[in-house]
Amino acid sequence: MENPFRQKHGLRGTFFKAYNEFKRRGELHGGLYLLTQPVYMPVDLQLVKLVLSGDYEYFHGHGFKVNEQKDPLLAHLFNLDGEQWKFMRTILTPTFTSGKMRVMFNTLLDCTHPLVDHISEEIVIHQALNLKEILSCFTMDVIVSCVFGLQSNIFNNPDTEFRKYGKQVFAGSLRIKLYTFVKFVLPSLGKLIHVKKLSAELENFFINVIRDVMSYRKNNNLERNDFIKLFIELEGKAKANGKDSLTVEQIAAQSFIFFTAGFESSSMTMTFCLHELSFNQNIQDKLRDEIKSTLTKNNGELTYEGLMSMQYLDLVIRETLRKYPSVSFLVRACSKDYKVPNTTVTIEKGTKVYISTWGIHRDEEFYPDAEAFMPERFTEENNRKRPGFTFLPFGEGPRICIGQRFGLMLIKTGIAMLLNKYKFYPIPDQKYNLDFEPSSVNITNKGTLKLIVVEI
Ligand code: HEM
Repeated sequence: MENPFRQKHGLRGTFFKAYNEFKRRGELHGGLYLLTQPVYMPVDLQLVKLVLSGDYEYFHGHGFKVNEQKDPLLAHLFNLDGEQWKFMRTILTPTFTSGKMRVMFNTLLDCTHPLVDHISEEIVIHQALNLKEILSCFTMDVIVSCVFGLQSNIFNNPDTEFRKYGKQVFAGSLRIKLYTFVKFVLPSLGKLIHVKKLSAELENFFINVIRDVMSYRKNNNLERNDFIKLFIELEGKAKANGKDSLTVEQIAAQSFIFFTAGFESSSMTMTFCLHELSFNQNIQDKLRDEIKSTLTKNNGELTYEGLMSMQYLDLVIRETLRKYPSVSFLVRACSKDYKVPNTTVTIEKGTKVYISTWGIHRDEEFYPDAEAFMPERFTEENNRKRPGFTFLPFGEGPRICIGQRFGLMLIKTGIAMLLNKYKFYPIPDQKYNLDFEPSSVNITNKGTLKLIVVEI
């Protein structure tokens, strides 16, 4: 196990290596140590399925303990377990239906105008643009608008507090590295010392934003198609049924996970997609043809129905998520002793289970020539040839990403609006195979990612 503060490949690399090694030996599963902590890794897809879905009652949590009083913002869906998780998941699920996404689509679409304007201004000055940075501004703009109900105006105001705190969460500060280390590698240490992940300043900021926006909306009878509206509706429903509504802290915690889970995963997926399209001009042209003809049918406008009708766009995004799964591994905690069927192995209560999404997505058995970018892998016909549980960018089972629909809508809308207006090419010294940042939890490439952008 690498020194967590000087990692070369990080947990992604550790699990990828273990996956390949168990597979090479023809094992169904295996065990490894994260420093002193023994963990279990299923490799066989039937076992993966049992952990994520079939025997869910043994593996229902992500295994993170939260102290709601000390870390109110961390009492969010991803960290919750048991009855608390079930309660919150049941409340939040109706906010992510396709009907709700359709209503929110225009709020999202509005955020593509500052993006396109910004790129048009920048290409007059620079030929190559740092798309990684620009797209992270775009997805943050969308999340701030749709989740917090505010216009961040980020392209004109790059120092917004959301950006500052977003960087704090993702930039791999010492506090975050220590927290991640304790959380994944030495959870027993976490019982002895309370490592607070978030600064009090950040905590107050998010809780105050939610409090202020919600009371402003209610006091002024304002409505906007975003998640704040959905939370206010939930409050109304709870009151009408004589039930307790969520507290401001609880709502802020859910909004905070939507923010952290949503903005970087979506912006990096878009960045990786454009990187691939710049090296695969034929795919870029084919996708642009689909986008242009869809927009032409609707007087040049992108509509929710138009977006959903684009099949090739769907294949391209799926292939991007296969090659670059933003969350490179899945985690579950075993909640009671589990005898692995047809083996002599018992997984003890408390053991962490890791599934290497990165390993499965780059396994030549399921994806021949795995390093090649081939959207056709995801046609219905080809999907049928592959076993289940081989495509896990959003996880699987009852714990599957709740924001999947929103994330896909955001990524597809951004890519469609960009390809409609610009062509993308690699800069002369750009390597096709990217190097990834080892210590970040989400997959991100090292350094910047610049592309040459040309207006059509
Ligand atoms: C490309 C975009 C995204 C990717 C690749 C992604 C991926 C994932 C993955 C792998 C998980 C863990 C699933 C598991 O353990 O089986 C997850 C959970 C979660 N995601 Fe996402 N996500 C994305 C976008 C979003 C967005 C936009 C939101 C919110 C608006 C969101 C909110 C959440 C939440 C709340 C959970 C925890 C669910 C639970 O434990 O019940 N995600 N996501």
